Amino acid sequence: MKGFARLATLLLCCLTLHSAQAQPVGVPMDVLHWWTSASERKAADQLALQLAQAGVQWKDAAIPGGGGMAAVKVLKSRVLMGDPPDVAQLIGTTLTDWADIGLVMPLNAVAQRQRWSQVLFPTVLELVTYKGDVIAAPLGIQRINTLLYNRKVFGRLNLSPPRSWAEFEMTARKLQAKGIRPLAWSDEPWQISTVFETVLLGDAGPALYRELIVQRKSSAWMDARVERALQRLRWLRALATDAPVERPWTESTRELMADNAGMMIMGDWAKGELMAWGASPVRDFGCAVVPGTENMHLYSIDTLAMLVSARPREAAQEKMAEVVVGQTAQLAYNRIKGAVPVRRDIDPAALDSCARDSWETFANVRNARVPSLAHRMAADEAIKDAVAQTLWRYLTDPRMEAAEAQRRLASVIRAPSAER
Ligand code: BGC
Repeated sequence: MKGFARLATLLLCCLTLHSAQAQPVGVPMDVLHWWTSASERKAADQLALQLAQAGVQWKDAAIPGGGGMAAVKVLKSRVLMGDPPDVAQLIGTTLTDWADIGLVMPLNAVAQRQRWSQVLFPTVLELVTYKGDVIAAPLGIQRINTLLYNRKVFGRLNLSPPRSWAEFEMTARKLQAKGIRPLAWSDEPWQISTVFETVLLGDAGPALYRELIVQRKSSAWMDARVERALQRLRWLRALATDAPVERPWTESTRELMADNAGMMIMGDWAKGELMAWGASPVRDFGCAVVPGTENMHLYSIDTLAMLVSARPREAAQEKMAEVVVGQTAQLAYNRIKGAVPVRRDIDPAALDSCARDSWETFANVRNARVPSLAHRMAADEAIKDAVAQTLWRYLTDPRMEAAEAQRRLASVIRAPSAER
């Protein structure tokens, strides 16, 4: 009897494991997101696996396109057609916009049961709390001000990761002299915007950055430090390329991986991608911060929102929120995704060196933690896109002066109060 029970347990365990990987089990949940690169895919699969074990089936509705440009549009059309997904990767301001029209299900009960107010970083809890309700399950914190560098190339040329722009220039020149592209680059507007905000944070400092991006004071955009950041952006692009190059972020990452580029400025999802391709942060590449942003954390936080629909799904939606915020899923998902857990109660020793630095910088209240505009943490879709388009125009039209770009940026920025 004992032997039979053991066999039954074993069978049950293996069946569960097998079915989690191969066959759909549990309540099907349609999840709309934009994680389609190798690491993003693996990270989503990891969540699916954890959820399957809890009786919830992740039915994938992935829409390709870095930064979620296409996914946000598809979501809008599905909602208009009366066919919203059960769950969506809604982040930052897109989250509150949808909550305003009553599409997002509050998760107060799960948040209370799982003590989110104690286990989550306050910044994270604040981000998912709107008008007194918790409206999304946070997944991971990405660090935007990340400078990735190729350890093999740096080792060969005896280079160290640059800590100032002067060092950056010297490093870039040495790489160029060896025929290596100093900086992997793409002119996709959202990628330009991603690089710009990190440069801006370094040049402006956190106080002015907040005035520009959080309070969105139009007049602040005429500050000389913004002009300097714009000039630096143009200089960086000139170091990287002399021809227009619009390509997915994964292609630039590939260039770094193939030793054809020395450095790359991108959110740390690029670290996740390098690792998904088999590269190691100890042997093959390193993470530093963009010059001028030491001890600062420019963040984008991924969140899943549970959407209201005619189909009753509340129990499974709550289960999903509970599982993805749980310790196990947090560590497993973020390790692959390149992000860090949204929880304060994890052991940082469990993280790789890049992630540990990100998590510890974020956890230290003395450090500046500022939201990303390019990744929807600070302004709505329209402002975010207008800023990205303006930066794209400035970079691709050499006749446009930085002062003209400043004027245009000042005119597309609207203060939060002016939106309502
Ligand atoms: C998301 C990341 C994603 C990246 C590239 C960002 O907006 O927060 O999760 O990996 O876009 O698609």
